[in-house]
Amino acid sequence: MPMPELLPPPTALEQVSDGQLKRYADLVYQRTGIRVSPQKKMLLSNRLRRRLRETGIASFDDYYRHLTCLRSNDPEWDAFLQEITTHETYLFRDDSQWQWFRNVYLAERAAEARGKGSPSLRIWSAACSTGDEPTTIACSIAAFLPNLQQWRIQIVGTDIGVGALEQAQSGVFGERAMRLVPEDYRRRFFTKAKDGQIWQAKPALMSMIAYRQHNLMEPLNERPFDLVFLKNVLIYFDAASKRKVLDNVCRLVRPGGLLAAGAAEGIADMLKGFERLQPWLHRRPQE
Ligand SMILES: C[S@@+](CC[C@H](N)C(=O)[O-])C[C@H]1O[C@@H](n2cnc3c(N)ncnc32)[C@H](O)[C@@H]1O
Repeated sequence: MPMPELLPPPTALEQVSDGQLKRYADLVYQRTGIRVSPQKKMLLSNRLRRRLRETGIASFDDYYRHLTCLRSNDPEWDAFLQEITTHETYLFRDDSQWQWFRNVYLAERAAEARGKGSPSLRIWSAACSTGDEPTTIACSIAAFLPNLQQWRIQIVGTDIGVGALEQAQSGVFGERAMRLVPEDYRRRFFTKAKDGQIWQAKPALMSMIAYRQHNLMEPLNERPFDLVFLKNVLIYFDAASKRKVLDNVCRLVRPGGLLAAGAAEGIADMLKGFERLQPWLHRRPQE
């Protein structure tokens, strides 16, 4: 007798209904500020099916109920958001901004610091994903800031994703993330693992960076920063969420300090009182 054809389990090709899509989109929005558009129906369905398989939960409705009953720090929330959010990042992304950081920003800070006792530099990499941006900041500082040993450097990297932050904290980067890192930086600031595909940031870089989990929709409990990078995250937010994030972020740019945004963040008109130095660079006035 021929074997019966193995059919996929009932949920394997199922898509969320319009009602379920809206409920999930509202949940994601309330939690993160990210808008899941109706065009993302198939994507959301595929990602949710992965969570159903992992958790053994039978239906989209049951999983929704499950999430709403969990505390916000439950690991399942993180696993869910990991599926929903985009973590794409790599070292030295957006070359022109790093050229500005090295040649203008660090040069000016170094000139200001000349003759001063123990200068300091505090930088926040907000929504830093797997740590590529804070590590690029640390690399650039290590390579370009004269008399580095005299400086007190603090780079704070934050993200909503616990999994992403765990990877960031390991300081390990694959060849893809390293593709724009110049050869001499690789030699100076990273060690290569035996298989040649994995790079480990050296302690000199890692010691400059502290990672913290943080949702941009909430205030961050930190002292003001000299410079804040807020890149490639608000593109997924609507205007109301952007305003809320900017309220939280702008308070932490010190007077005279700078906010470096992504080129497509769409926030220039929302930065009240900030001076626009470049389409992506904004200065908080001195008080
Ligand atoms: C595309 S990555 C950007 C990484 C890096 N800034 C860059 O430009 O390469 C976007 C990151 O934003 C984070 N994210 C999304 N919503 C967030 C929120 N409400 N609070 C904090 N981080 C959030 C995601 O977890 C993800 O790691």
